[in-house]
Amino acid sequence: MPDDEPAGVAGAEDVDSEGARVTPSPAGANPSPRMIVGLVLFMVVLAAFLAWMLTIGGETDAQRNLRELDARASPAPQGDPPMPASAGRVIYDAQCIACHGRGAVGGPGGPALVAKRYTPPRWEDQDLANVIYGGRGSMPAFSDRLSLEELAAVVAYIRWEQGLPVPGTQVRESPA
Ligand code: HEC
Repeated sequence: MPDDEPAGVAGAEDVDSEGARVTPSPAGANPSPRMIVGLVLFMVVLAAFLAWMLTIGGETDAQRNLRELDARASPAPQGDPPMPASAGRVIYDAQCIACHGRGAVGGPGGPALVAKRYTPPRWEDQDLANVIYGGRGSMPAFSDRLSLEELAAVVAYIRWEQGLPVPGTQVRESPA
């Protein structure tokens, strides 16, 4: 076979001339400066892309939903709330402010109730009333401390702080 002999001879020459090493491909042995520049540029672009992914670009729909839900439902209301929210504020300032903060903006002991997540339809008046009456987690139950009327007033006050209209808030005793 004429093809086999020259190939075998060439292979043997490679090993002999380079010592124990088989001659690598020309590109691997001596990468051109253009290749190195290209590689560096590629890595810089890749790093920039990853950084962008980690900040705004990588925000998933679920993360954005959460951020929007945690944001204030509307700008802080000015002045005094109408009845019954004004009565609710007095109760809130006595019973809730220590954990949920002044104006229900949140505190070390409880979440911000002015957040969009606590507005309807996710949280209807009765949903708020149920939690306030029944308690949740480290939050105490207020069923033995608030009358139904006072409970409704507190719910109305939370609505006012959320920037929502304060109708005659209707709540019933928690089924819980
Ligand atoms: C001792 C601290 C404390 C007091 C006082 C307190 N809360 Fe809370 N409240 C919490 C904590 C903590 C949570 C979060 C509970 C959880 O999700 O486990 C919470 C949650 C809530 C929630 C939302 C529940 C949820 O599932 O996200 C509402 C509404 C609420 N509180 C209203 C009130 C009102 C109104 C008062 C006053 C009548 C009040 N809280 C008093 C600590 C408190």
